[in-house]
Amino acid sequence: MEIKNLIRENILKLKPYSSARGKYLNGILLDANENAIGSVINQNSNLDLNRYPDPNHNDVKEKLCELINIPKDNLFVGVGSDEIIDLVVRIFCNPSIDNCIINEPTYGMYQVVCDINDVEYKSVLLTQDFQLDVDKIKSAVDEKTKIIFVCSPNNPTANLLSSDDILRLVKELETIVVVDEAYIDFSNQKSLIYESLNYNNLVVMRTFSKAWGLAGIRAGYCTASKEITEILYKVKAPYNLNSLTSQSIISAIDSSNLKDEFVENILTERERVKAELKSLEKIEQVFESETNYILFKCTGATEVYNQLAERGVIVRDRSSQPLLENCLRVSIGTKEQNDKFLKELREVL
Ligand SMILES: Cc1ncc(COP(=O)(O)O)c(C=O)c1O
Repeated sequence: MEIKNLIRENILKLKPYSSARGKYLNGILLDANENAIGSVINQNSNLDLNRYPDPNHNDVKEKLCELINIPKDNLFVGVGSDEIIDLVVRIFCNPSIDNCIINEPTYGMYQVVCDINDVEYKSVLLTQDFQLDVDKIKSAVDEKTKIIFVCSPNNPTANLLSSDDILRLVKELETIVVVDEAYIDFSNQKSLIYESLNYNNLVVMRTFSKAWGLAGIRAGYCTASKEITEILYKVKAPYNLNSLTSQSIISAIDSSNLKDEFVENILTERERVKAELKSLEKIEQVFESETNYILFKCTGATEVYNQLAERGVIVRDRSSQPLLENCLRVSIGTKEQNDKFLKELREVL
């Protein structure tokens, strides 16, 4: 597929900002108007916080590529997946002209980013069992459709979407398909990241905010064809990834066994909470989960949500979303937090 035909003309023509650290990272650095004496914090750090970070993310990419076994040219690192969603929309969608397809109910940021960028989004409902409605998606696509957002496992329904369906979209449509795998570490299914080496219109996003326990550092990445990663690097803010975040990513990868322990712990708790929820008479349905949260249905969900909040337990009310009448979403917490949630929920019900 010719990716160039999908990219906005102004972005194709864009002469990117040429940043000081893009060319030289070492030497007597008098090129970026930094404070050469030092920084007011972290005097003993080897991070050189007084210096702008590497705009090309070389060290981070090297480490990450080794971890996921993907060539450097196929990787882009962003300030969370949220930055990547925004960049992709800005690269491909002309405001007021082009459109995206969002498969609802799903993660709210795809819609917000479209709204911010004045890009129309077409909402296609998932099927009753929360899978992609491929035929409806295909009939919603028109010549102005540039991106289809697919979240798998999906937030908030917690299920994986069929990878055959996703790949059908990738193969059969002349659009970019963005697959958001924020929760893939909690699933026992294979990731689609390696498929992004086979199809130049497939972008697969991952984040450090969930299984890695690093929501506070704001780091995410995507794998995609070289044509797409090159444009992402061209369009992003020059120093998007700060030095502290980059250092944290590298340390995290060195401790990836800890991430596996977290996941194991969360999965054990997820199954326990699921079983407890299923045993409660007033809970109408507990949906299967391939994530670190559970979606469940109970009569008067909004009232239950409010009463839980009054008792200091905050869950997410998803009942206003399509297909999710009376549905609440609860993240899996520590054992103690889950016990408290279950205790208060039993009382509220
Ligand atoms: C599906 C999905 N994608 C992306 C994100 C945000 O990821 P990040 O923290 O990397 O911006 C979230 C956060 O809840 C999410 O649920």
